[in-house]
Formats: sequence, structure tokens, C-alpha cells
Amino acid sequence: EKGGYDHFMLKEIYEQPRSIYDSMRGRIYPLEGKVQLGGLVEYSEKLRNANRIIIVACGTSWHAGLVGEYLIEEFARLPVEVEYASEFRYRNPVIYENDIVIAISQSGETADTMAAIELAKEKGATILGICNVVGSSIPRLTHGGAYTHAGPEIGVASTKAFTAQVTVLTLIAFYAAQIKGTLSQSKLTSLLTELESIPSLVEKALATNDIIVKIAEEFKDSTNCIFLGRGTGFPVALEGALKLKEISYIHAEGYPAAEMKHGPIALIDEQMPVIVIATKNSSYEKVISNIQEVKARKGKIIAIVTEGDTEVKNMADYVIEIPHADEAFLPLLATIPLQLISYHIAVMRGCNVDQPRNLAKSVTVE
Ligand code: M6R
Repeated sequence: EKGGYDHFMLKEIYEQPRSIYDSMRGRIYPLEGKVQLGGLVEYSEKLRNANRIIIVACGTSWHAGLVGEYLIEEFARLPVEVEYASEFRYRNPVIYENDIVIAISQSGETADTMAAIELAKEKGATILGICNVVGSSIPRLTHGGAYTHAGPEIGVASTKAFTAQVTVLTLIAFYAAQIKGTLSQSKLTSLLTELESIPSLVEKALATNDIIVKIAEEFKDSTNCIFLGRGTGFPVALEGALKLKEISYIHAEGYPAAEMKHGPIALIDEQMPVIVIATKNSSYEKVISNIQEVKARKGKIIAIVTEGDTEVKNMADYVIEIPHADEAFLPLLATIPLQLISYHIAVMRGCNVDQPRNLAKSVTVE
């Protein structure tokens, strides 16, 4: 049932061109510059009039929420807050009736996320869900929403569910933009046309596997690792660090690249691998300065770059090339090599990648 792969995690990593495609199938109409989300139609008026969106989730789903924040603010010009469900529920959060709460959960059974939903519901907010498991508890608690169509995810470390969540959040950002009129038809057409090609670009990102095996060989005995990114590269860095921690038990931290100089830079020495998302987008030049800061302290740079990049290549110890895409789609591509790095390092260290110690697939305790 692992389809010829050694582990479910690897199978699920390789399923991503399909699961991303399935999560957008029937929902986008590039030629008409239109997004259709059946489970949101009823709430389109609420969305038009909402003052803000609050996203609640845990773990990897929370990272997807952060990507959603960047995209919804960018395209729909709607303020977004992203909350850890466990923190949100135990304080006395300010929630208004015209707030829209989006709960993200692969399993649809996470206790903290469910409690956050109940709380927001009591206060009269509209609750939308992004879940993967059909018929699970969260979709039953929410008013509307959109399923991710990632298919069953068996590995405890979330991989294809994350990129499916990001896909659906991207669609929600475009949908909200369409309703609010914040994006022109032609811009939507070009974004949706590009989105359609993302599954094939993910296929190319998966082809980085060979270089990644070499990188994993070199860094498998590290005790620490830092992940850096800016913009949507920041949540991708957080997700990369979580994956490495979970399955290889190497201590890893994700940071917005510019925050490094406010503390974590003290950790950099010749032993420290620093994985940087340095693709060609609006923060490219800034990330290059951050790479120089690390190199000046003899840190080891592993950079995720855009195909054909030369500037970062000259500075980095290793580069992993991914295809060029609009900045909006960066998380769907840059995440792939990070999943593979964690996977190979964990296997080389003899870890149980599908069932890491102390973890369960769904966390139904508070
Ligand atoms: O099922 P959920 O998406 O609600 O789960 C949330 C987290 O428990 C989950 O993402 C966890 O962090 C994963 N093990 C990450 O790989």
C-alpha cells in the first residue's frame, strides 16, 4: 500500500502534483478569470462585508494559515490574523459578528481547533473550514468551507495536506478578491493560468531529489539547523523546521531572514547549516544580504533558488533549483525540497519517519 515507496511520507511527498491538482480541479476557470468554491457561495456576501478574517489552526495547518494571511491580504486587501487555536481559545479574544473565522485542519479532529471554533461560533462569527478528512468533526461544526482533496495522509508528518491547504487558501484569496473587486479580470486570468501549471512545476521541484540526497549525507549528523525566508518564504521556513524536528529529532528553527540579526545570528558558526529560501522575487536582494551575514560567520548555506540563478550560487555551499513562478505560488514549490531534505536526513539517522516518537496523527487532547 506504500505504492513501491519505502515510507508513506515519501509516497505522499511524490503525490503532490496530483493532490494539488485535485484541490483546484473544478474550482478554477482561467479563461473567464473566475474561481468557484461551492461551499463558500452562501457566504460571499459575508465575505464582501467582513472586516477581517481570523485563521485558527495548529502545527503545519497553522503554517498554511500564515501563507493564507499573506495571500488574502495581498489580493483581497482584507486584514487577516493567524492564531494558534490553543492560544486563541484560552484568552478572551475580541470577535465580532462580521468576522470570518477560517479553521484549518487536516484531520478535522484537532481538539484545540474544535474548541476555538465553538468559541467563535458563540460570539456570532461565520466559521469556514478547510479540512481534508471528509465527514470528520470540524466540517460538521463549521458553517461552510472547502475541502482539500489530498486523499488520505498516513505519515504523521504532514506533507501533501499542507500543500493542498495552501492551494485552497490561494483559491480563497482569489475568490475573496473576485468578490471584493480588488483584482482585475486580466490579472486573475493570468494568475489562474499559472496556477494550473503548478502541478507540473511541482513535478520539477521533486526532481531535486538527487542533489538533496547529497546534502542530507553532509548534514545528517548536525545537531541544529536554521531555516530562513522572507514574505511567504517565512512560513515555508517555519514548516521546513517543523518537519526536520518532527522526523529527524534535529533541533531546528525557522525565522524571517531579517530577524536573524536580532538574536539567532549568535548561533551561527561553521557547524551550523542554514537553509535559505532565496528565489527570485521581491525580497531577493534582501535575502542575499542575509546570506552574506551568515557566510561572514562561516555558516553553511543551503539555498533554494530559482532555476538559472547565478548570484546566490556563487555564495552558497549548495543550491537547490526550483522552477520560476509568480511569488504567490512560491510556497507550493519551495516546500517540496524541504520535505525531501527532512525525509532523507531522518532515514539516514534511522528514524521512524512515518511514526515519529511522541507524536500522533491527530491530536484529540487539549
Ligand atoms: O489535523 P490537523 O491539521 O488539525 O493537525 C494539526 C497538527 O497537529 C499537525 O499539523 C502537526 O503539526 C503535524 N504532525 C505536522 O506535520
